[in-house]
Amino acid sequence: MTFTQHTILITGGTSGIGLGFAQKFAALGNKVIISARNEARLKQILAENPDFSGFVSDVSDTDSLFQLLQSIQNEFPKLDVLFNSAGIMRAYNLFENPDFSALTSEIQTNLMGTIAVTQAFLALLTANQGTIINVSSGLSNLADGAHPIYNLTKAGVHFYSDALREQARYFDQNLRVVELVPPLVAETNLESHTTTAAPNNMALSDLIDETLAALENGADRIDAGFSKTLHQMGKVDSEENTRKLSAQMLSNYFPKNK
Ligand SMILES: NC(=O)c1ccc[n+]([C@@H]2O[C@H](COP(=O)([O-])OP(=O)(O)OC[C@H]3O[C@@H](n4cnc5c(N)ncnc54)[C@H](OP(=O)(O)O)[C@@H]3O)[C@@H](O)[C@H]2O)c1
Repeated sequence: MTFTQHTILITGGTSGIGLGFAQKFAALGNKVIISARNEARLKQILAENPDFSGFVSDVSDTDSLFQLLQSIQNEFPKLDVLFNSAGIMRAYNLFENPDFSALTSEIQTNLMGTIAVTQAFLALLTANQGTIINVSSGLSNLADGAHPIYNLTKAGVHFYSDALREQARYFDQNLRVVELVPPLVAETNLESHTTTAAPNNMALSDLIDETLAALENGADRIDAGFSKTLHQMGKVDSEENTRKLSAQMLSNYFPKNK
């Protein structure tokens, strides 16, 4: 069934994966609402996409989230899809004593933020027989060494999504829970380290096409592109694969002097 006629909130909808899906969903005849922190950027995206609505909102800030919920309840009571895309990614050398608040900001945004937004909108989404799409990552399957906190936040998003889906089934709730597992999509602003020439990079348009086909086919977990391989690597020989992937990523992000 074509993904149309929905009212969709996309957190992190001003850039990258969130923005790409926002434009595609709008083109398919859905009402799209985006949110993000940077007001100037939000205004620019709303000016470029006049059919979008949008709100400044920080998923890691409870007051800001409550205001977003109130605005949506008042202006878009038919909201039936939440697309949790807001996220940040950082590479850390844990032995360089990185600032603790910087380290935990990925937990606040990617993990706590996804849970907080979902829980805030759960009653409205369930009442509207809705769908939650949580964006995790291929790096939820294995520790890659270079992004020690990012990996765990995305593994957390995976387990939270599974638990929510099982509870929805068990408690007979009208809620579909989808986990979208993208591989590297270098044409976003997530980090500047990688390029589209990187091995296993997926074009954003391909990610969107593969996801929509899977969504329309009723999939609950969408391992896009190279994420299928990462999923297998996390299940079979996961210790060996963790060592291999980490060796590759650590030397890429933190090259040692020869
Ligand atoms: N690109 C990849 O290779 C890749 C692969 C797997 C998974 N993912 C996941 O896909 C999602 C989107 O990433 P992307 O690559 O599209 O990155 P991006 O281009 O940097 O977009 C991130 C978006 O999130 C917003 N954001 C960040 N922190 C926020 C907060 N605290 N509250 C509200 N909005 C916030 C940003 O806007 P503001 O800064 O204005 O808030 C921006 O709109 C993330 O969850 C990421 O982990 C990406």
